[in-house]
Amino acid sequence: MKRVLFIFLAVWFIFTVVVFVMFFSTTQADSKGSGDGMPVLEAIETRASVRAYTDQAVEPEKIEQILRAGMAAPTARNQQPWAFVVIDDKALMTQLADSLPNAKMLASAPVAIVVCGDLSKAIEGEGATYWIQDASAATENILLAAHGLGLGAVWTGAYPVMSRVKVIREVLGLPSQIIPLNVIPMGYPQGETAPKDKWKRENVHLNNWATAY
Ligand SMILES: Cc1cc2nc3c(=O)[nH]c(=O)nc-3n(C[C@H](O)[C@H](O)[C@H](O)COP(=O)(O)O)c2cc1C
Repeated sequence: MKRVLFIFLAVWFIFTVVVFVMFFSTTQADSKGSGDGMPVLEAIETRASVRAYTDQAVEPEKIEQILRAGMAAPTARNQQPWAFVVIDDKALMTQLADSLPNAKMLASAPVAIVVCGDLSKAIEGEGATYWIQDASAATENILLAAHGLGLGAVWTGAYPVMSRVKVIREVLGLPSQIIPLNVIPMGYPQGETAPKDKWKRENVHLNNWATAY
């Protein structure tokens, strides 16, 4: 009788442990965002360009996470024709802010990422300008990752405005095959910036241009 009771308790104990482990691993997977994808949509819907930052420094781990997100973007033929310059030098930031009228907020940003095309890695021939789309996809990933990590950022355009490209090239010492597509100042947001609602049904067509969606 004692033996039967012992076996019953042992089986019950093993069953309880298995159920506990299964439940715990499911909860962990959900919290990493691998469940229904909602965290991605939430980041997309709530992102806005942020142009004012606090003095708080951005943690190096966050900057690496953001760069990893940038490099996770799709690229034509998987060429990854890009290079990224992280700027955390106040003097360089001020120099860029002074020379780029469209990116004055650089002066108050603790850090910035310059997303560049690397022409030595670009496709030759007809697809030569795919690098712009590739680097743009990386840029959007960077903006979303920054937002997802509680930072604020803004895409300030460089290429194809050659006067801006020239300034950035000179200040950062970029070689001739490296083209800065944009400069992304980022930091912890100062104040709130509401996202814009850009949904316009009239921009969508169904099957044929003549048919409204
Ligand atoms: C190609 C491109 C160039 C941009 N250049 C600048 C810029 O030079 N300065 C700036 O403050 N914002 C710039 N922006 C940010 C836009 O002004 C901003 O994305 C737009 O107003 C929509 O606002 P949102 O980002 O908050 O949705 C640029 C955005 C893109 C995509």
